[in-house]
Amino acid sequence: GKVVLSYSGGLDTSIILKWLQETYRCEVVTFTADLGQDEELGPAREKAETLGVKDIRIVDVREEFVRDFVFPMFRANALYEGHYLLGSSIARPLIAKHLVSIAREVGADAIAHGATGKGNDQVRFELAANALDPSIEIIAPWRVWDIQSRTQLIDYAEKHRIAIPKDKRGEAPFSIDANLLHTSTEGKVLEDPSETAPSYVYQRTVDPLHAPNEPETIIVGFDRGDAVSLNGTALTPAALLSELNRLGGRHGIGRVDLVENRFVGMKSRGIYETPGGTILLAAHRGVESITLDRAAAHLKDEIMPRYAALIYDGFWFSPEREMLQALIDQSQAYVSGEVTLRLYKGAVSVVARTSPYSLYSLDLVTFEEGSGAYDHHDAEGFIRLNGLRLKSWASRNAQAASP
Ligand code: ARG
Ligand code: SIN
Repeated sequence: GKVVLSYSGGLDTSIILKWLQETYRCEVVTFTADLGQDEELGPAREKAETLGVKDIRIVDVREEFVRDFVFPMFRANALYEGHYLLGSSIARPLIAKHLVSIAREVGADAIAHGATGKGNDQVRFELAANALDPSIEIIAPWRVWDIQSRTQLIDYAEKHRIAIPKDKRGEAPFSIDANLLHTSTEGKVLEDPSETAPSYVYQRTVDPLHAPNEPETIIVGFDRGDAVSLNGTALTPAALLSELNRLGGRHGIGRVDLVENRFVGMKSRGIYETPGGTILLAAHRGVESITLDRAAAHLKDEIMPRYAALIYDGFWFSPEREMLQALIDQSQAYVSGEVTLRLYKGAVSVVARTSPYSLYSLDLVTFEEGSGAYDHHDAEGFIRLNGLRLKSWASRNAQAASP
């Protein structure tokens, strides 16, 4: 049989590749996704060739990633536990989708991934694969083999003459996952949440202390909930996010240091850099603030934590995520317009917003004289009725308190 492996070209997945060939005596097909991780993918091809792989797939999925995964998620303003923009979580279903489709194309009966047995990623890869192809088998070498430590991993590599980069001989100082949306670092030197993270963990944003002393003002244009232009120039989804990453990185925007609750039960400390995504979230909320009806906006905010948890927990391909997505997408019909933002020393602030579909009514809100659609006298009865139950409540409390 054949196995399709999610292959990064790094040491761990190279060892997995060798181990699959040895253990299952099968042909391994490799899939390497260009998700905008800003890494040369040529070496991944060379390494796979060296390891005897005949069918090597290296696919540029950047536009698909942003258009079909990141943007739909941003329509919801999704944040897990208040801070995490889900940069790793949202990439897993896309990778699983490609693994499954390659498996079908080449007639493989299994797919394999390099996620550990302790994290969220294994859950996300496998739930997505289950939803896309109920018959596909999944191999998670980290849960199967008897390699227990970094040292044993290096021994295995040496025994099988897999080249080990110099920096991997010692302990790598942390684990990295990067794509167009974010860079995540966790583990090792970051494992003690009482210790401040060393500054070298940050890969794509400058320290806000060293960001330019001059603020920069940008304009993001939206069409039905999705960002479509930057400073008046139309850009594809991936090009737009790349540009926002560059701008945000320069101004030190989007750094988060947090302790999160993994789906598999433990707390984990992570450092995230999501420069473009942080700008995009602020911008999207800016255009929604003038285009969404109050109740519609509040309903979106109520379901958001639920939607975010579904993505975090690996249920991107699920009936409940699709149902919530339909609701969210419908809400975006008039979420079009332009938002002006100021980037300055780690902060992004909305400073202006416009839309052809704005619900903002100067006539209604002005402290000057309006046209009469709003009558002050209506407010009197409105407040009296709303206050009625508060008066009952306060009187009862006062009575109960007096002996
Ligand atoms: N904790 C994050 C999540 O569950 C990131 C996981 C991958 N990160 C990594 N450095 N290996 O989405
Ligand atoms: C891993 O365990 O492979 C990375 C961390 C995670 O998935 O949560």
